[in-house]
Amino acid sequence: MVQTRISIHRTGLALMGAAFLAAAFSSSLLSAGPVEEERDTCLGCHGDQTASKDLPDGTKVSLFVDVSQLDKSVHGTRVKCSDCHPGTEEVPHPERPVKTFREYQASFREACRRCHFDNYTKTLDSVHYAQIAKGDFRAPFCVDCHGSHAITRPAQPKPDISKTCARCHEKIFEVYKKSVHGKAFVAHNPDVPVCTDCHKSHDIANPHSAAYRLRTPQICGSCHTNKAVMAKYNLSTDVLSTYLADFHGMSASLEKGQTKNQRAVVAVCVDCHGVHDITTVKGEGSRVVKANLLRTCQQCHKDASENFPAAWLSHYEPSWKRAPLIYGITLFYKVLIPFIIGGLVLQILLHLWRVVVNR
Ligand code: HEC
Ligand code: HEC
Ligand code: HEC
Ligand code: HEC
Ligand code: HEC
Ligand code: HEC
Ligand code: HEC
Ligand code: HEC
Ligand code: HEC
Repeated sequence: MVQTRISIHRTGLALMGAAFLAAAFSSSLLSAGPVEEERDTCLGCHGDQTASKDLPDGTKVSLFVDVSQLDKSVHGTRVKCSDCHPGTEEVPHPERPVKTFREYQASFREACRRCHFDNYTKTLDSVHYAQIAKGDFRAPFCVDCHGSHAITRPAQPKPDISKTCARCHEKIFEVYKKSVHGKAFVAHNPDVPVCTDCHKSHDIANPHSAAYRLRTPQICGSCHTNKAVMAKYNLSTDVLSTYLADFHGMSASLEKGQTKNQRAVVAVCVDCHGVHDITTVKGEGSRVVKANLLRTCQQCHKDASENFPAAWLSHYEPSWKRAPLIYGITLFYKVLIPFIIGGLVLQILLHLWRVVVNR
């Protein structure tokens, strides 16, 4: 029924449109560039604040366009209406077979592809697109993160990114906000990560995949090995190298080539420190503070006893103070091995000398 009303409307419009376009064409000879010219034409109908359209599910969509939003946007007066809305030069416009408002929005999904082909292509690799492809339109289109007519420079200021994700991932955002990294949002600290530092923006990977898990030490390491940044917080930059030298890091790197999609059974940074709820290591709720450490190990080492964590070096390099036995043995080998090899080489040389000289 609703459809019928629209089509009656459309026939009337065709006539109106033709007359209007003719008028707009003659007046546009006076105005400046092709962008403004076209805008004037479109605004002849879309400048009407009361213009609207009913969708089959009863939603009323406003067809009014506030052109000042476009002027102020990143696109300014560089992009024509029809660059994003191909086909609309004709009135009535091509029909959109949609039922709901979200389907209506989905029908604009290709609007940005022409000019932002890279970003468009990246999104095809994302968890979000995987949902969209399954018909789950709760996942974001370009416009959900960027807007349509009032697009601003993204990541300015950077903390706003987390707010964009928070619109749909509210619970995670609330947890993240209270974490040590949440200061990115709360205190606008640019040193700590926002959602996209760990997940990226367009090609967001499935965070539960083995491939992503195994990449996390590198993601954390990109900041936690940065001496200039970590010095400000008096934090060690050896956390990645010591992790990689440890049993956990070693088996994580070994597993890299092998696992396809099963969850890797090795400990990565987030298994000990948490994910969105990371605290300072000495903090009360910390998973790695002494009082909680055993429980953290027991996630995987089921029958670990009280002194299990104590026998482990954590992020420390062995030293006389921390692990004298390991340090001693390492040192011993460091001296012994060159000594033995040196001796062997010397022996071979002496043999050769004897063979050559005494012949
Ligand atoms: C003569 C009036 C008129 C002119 C001129 C006009 N439009 Fe429209 N436009 C409409 C009407 C009516 C609708 C609602 C269409 C429907 O009910 O299916 C619409 C809908 C739209 C939509 C929403 C998508 C859709 O199909 O429902 C877009 C986008 C749009 N117009 C863009 C433009 C652009 C860009 C221009 C200029 C190149 C333009 N229009 C010129 C009347 C006009
Ligand atoms: C940078 C690309 C871009 C430009 C330029 C652009 N639009 Fe749009 N427009 C969109 C997108 C994307 C949507 C869908 C919005 C949504 O999903 O809510 C949209 C929606 C619309 C709608 C439907 C009503 C609504 O707001 O959802 C109309 C009408 C419209 N545009 C007209 C215009 C006119 C007229 C111009 C030029 C004055 C213009 N657009 C310029 C991208 C653009
Ligand atoms: C006709 C080509 C064209 C279309 C279509 C288009 N854009 Fe753009 N976009 C541009 C140009 C040109 C710039 C300006 C680049 C600059 O100033 O750095 C730009 C800039 C941007 C920026 C800021 C880039 C930056 O580096 O900060 C964003 C975000 C953006 N566009 C999003 C969109 C979205 C979302 C759509 C679809 C709704 C869209 N664009 C459609 C041409 C286009
Ligand atoms: C889940 C949210 C999200 C979606 C969906 C999304 N973007 Fe972005 N986009 C961002 C964020 C955040 C940034 C800024 C930080 C960055 O570049 O990673 C950005 C940056 C950009 C830029 C600036 C240049 C650049 O590459 O940094 C352009 C252009 C852009 N996006 C276009 C698009 C287009 C086109 C689509 C749809 C195909 C899209 N985006 C979908 C969040 C999103
Ligand atoms: C318009 C809503 C919306 C926005 C905005 C949005 N997402 Fe999503 N996201 C979804 C939906 C829906 C899913 C798939 C269902 C689910 O697992 O929650 C999803 C899934 C994900 C997943 C995979 C979850 C899993 O368990 O596999 C990650 C990671 C993710 N989003 C990160 C982000 C980031 C980072 C941003 C901001 C740059 C963002 N999302 C913005 C709706 C959104
Ligand atoms: C310090 C890096 C980091 C930051 C910052 C971060 N995430 Fe995550 N996120 C991860 C990791 C790692 C996982 C995978 C956890 C696992 O092993 O299952 C994950 C998992 C997810 C998931 C999947 C569902 C779940 O609960 O496991 C979603 C959705 C998500 N993140 C969204 C977000 C959003 C939204 C933000 C910003 C508010 C954010 N993330 C900030 C690292 C991060
Ligand atoms: C098996 C558990 C475990 C794993 C895996 C692990 N950590 Fe730790 N981490 C700890 C413990 C326990 C401490 C506290 C050490 C102490 O203060 O005695 C700590 C301390 C830290 C600190 C604070 C350093 C300082 O100077 O106070 C940072 C930062 C850190 N870890 C980051 C990481 C990163 C990044 C990774 C992955 C590359 C990682 N951790 C992997 C258990 C772990
Ligand atoms: C964008 C850079 C960045 C990334 C990525 C990052 N961090 Fe951090 N992290 C920081 C900074 C900066 C601090 C110090 C914040 C403060 O103290 O205010 C910090 C603090 C920490 C602390 C608390 C140390 C203490 O005791 O004060 C831990 C633990 C930690 N990060 C672990 C991780 C883990 C695990 C990951 C990966 C999942 C990670 N970080 C990813 C920048 C980063
Ligand atoms: C997410 C699971 C996980 C967590 C959490 C975890 N580990 Fe492990 N750990 C492993 C796996 C898997 C191995 C076996 C690696 C191998 O054999 O190559 C291992 C090996 C070890 C080893 C070598 C000896 C042995 O038992 O095989 C020690 C010591 C160790 N972990 C200590 C710890 C301590 C201490 C903690 C807590 C601070 C901890 N682990 C937390 C998974 C975990």
